[in-house]
Amino acid sequence: MSTTPPDSSLKVTAPEFVLQTILGVMNEVPVGICIVDKDLQIQLVNRRAKQLLDLPDHLFEPKLPHFSAVIAFNAERGDYGPGDSAEHVARILALAQRMEPHHFERKRPNGQVLDIRGEPLPDGGFVTIWTDMTARAQAEEAVIARNTTLEQLNADLQLAQQQLVQSEKLASIGQLAAGVAHEINNPIGYVSSNISSMASYLEDIFRLLDECEAACAPDATPDQRASAWRIRAEIDLDFLKEDIPNLMRESLEGITRVKKIVQDLKDFSHADTHQEWQWADLHKGIESTINIVTSEVKYKADVVREFGQLPDIECLPTQLNQVFMNLLVNAAHAMGEERGTITIRTGTEAASVWLELSDNGSGTPPEVQARVFDPFFTTKPMGKGTGLGLSLAYGIIKKHQGTVTLDSTPGRGTTFRIVLPVARVIASEATG
Ligand SMILES: Nc1ncnc2c1ncn2[C@@H]1O[C@H](COP(=O)(O)OP(=O)(O)O)[C@@H](O)[C@H]1O
Ligand SMILES: [Mg+2]
Repeated sequence: MSTTPPDSSLKVTAPEFVLQTILGVMNEVPVGICIVDKDLQIQLVNRRAKQLLDLPDHLFEPKLPHFSAVIAFNAERGDYGPGDSAEHVARILALAQRMEPHHFERKRPNGQVLDIRGEPLPDGGFVTIWTDMTARAQAEEAVIARNTTLEQLNADLQLAQQQLVQSEKLASIGQLAAGVAHEINNPIGYVSSNISSMASYLEDIFRLLDECEAACAPDATPDQRASAWRIRAEIDLDFLKEDIPNLMRESLEGITRVKKIVQDLKDFSHADTHQEWQWADLHKGIESTINIVTSEVKYKADVVREFGQLPDIECLPTQLNQVFMNLLVNAAHAMGEERGTITIRTGTEAASVWLELSDNGSGTPPEVQARVFDPFFTTKPMGKGTGLGLSLAYGIIKKHQGTVTLDSTPGRGTTFRIVLPVARVIASEATG
């Protein structure tokens, strides 16, 4: 059977039909497509490519141009950015001539973002596909802008928090200064009154001395001797002999008290050392803190110490003192009309030390207990509470890798318990 000659009409119509269909479909797809042959002569360009790149129709008429003509058109209108357009053209043509797969994103001066993908074709030439990514890029930019705003907000908040913590510290420094002033004022008051009494006593004594000198002279008259005796009686020398040593002793005690307060203040604030991690004796910190807040506490409660044996612990002593101070002052504030007791217990537990500060004050209900460590939570009237004391204390204990908890019964009192590791674990050591 001889082969029938090929049906020329079918042969011509079918490829033509297929081609037209493909071209029609190509014009509808949402990406720009351009096909060039191995000489970079454009063989096909779809409608979307012309739209996406704003390429005018005349560029493609009467016949499809060489790829370089499109590149030159783009370069002329500044699509590739500033600089010599001939250089842009040369660079892009060199890239195209390599006929290698490529994929990149280009932002046009009008803000449009294009995803550009080039794939070599099996028989030479290549196809370029443009996808419009502007919407996605804009969404990304919006996200970045929002992130920047959030970061800024976060930074503002952190700053505000730092300032508040600073103001709580200032408030407690103010409170502390007032207490210390009160404590120092009292001894200074009687020392200064004693000194002025002694000054007037000295005047009397010197007057008597002058009289005695005259009375003791070889040519002294009986009158002069009588005058000396009279003045001795007038100034009441016997009383002075008794009173002066008393005034001296009392004044010395006062001065010693002031010296102690100053020493405690120094211990409390470690004014002479830097704020560094160091091995320190907790009891010493507690003692100096009790002395510092004595004016807040002494009219309200007795402080009872039930101290165990504690090793030195690695800590920031000044900051722990701040914690003790906040707890002590809170305990004093919790006292009612009746004088109460604040009991401080300490002890060790495995590689930790613990400290409990109990008061038999007002206590506080569970719904308050749940919030006492929240910043700004206070049940005290304006001006008395900042609500930052326990939140600061919590932060300091956390920094020491410790815990702080409370147990409170309304009407009976409150106990705060702090557990601190003897030595801190440094993160880099822990993770190797
Ligand atoms: N020892 C205590 N007894 C009863 N309530 C307490 C005690 N310590 C703290 N609180 C409660 O916790 C709240 C928060 O304390 P704090 O953070 O020190 O702030 P402030 O003392 O400024 O109110 C207090 O207002 C009080 O209600
Ligand atoms: Mg407080």
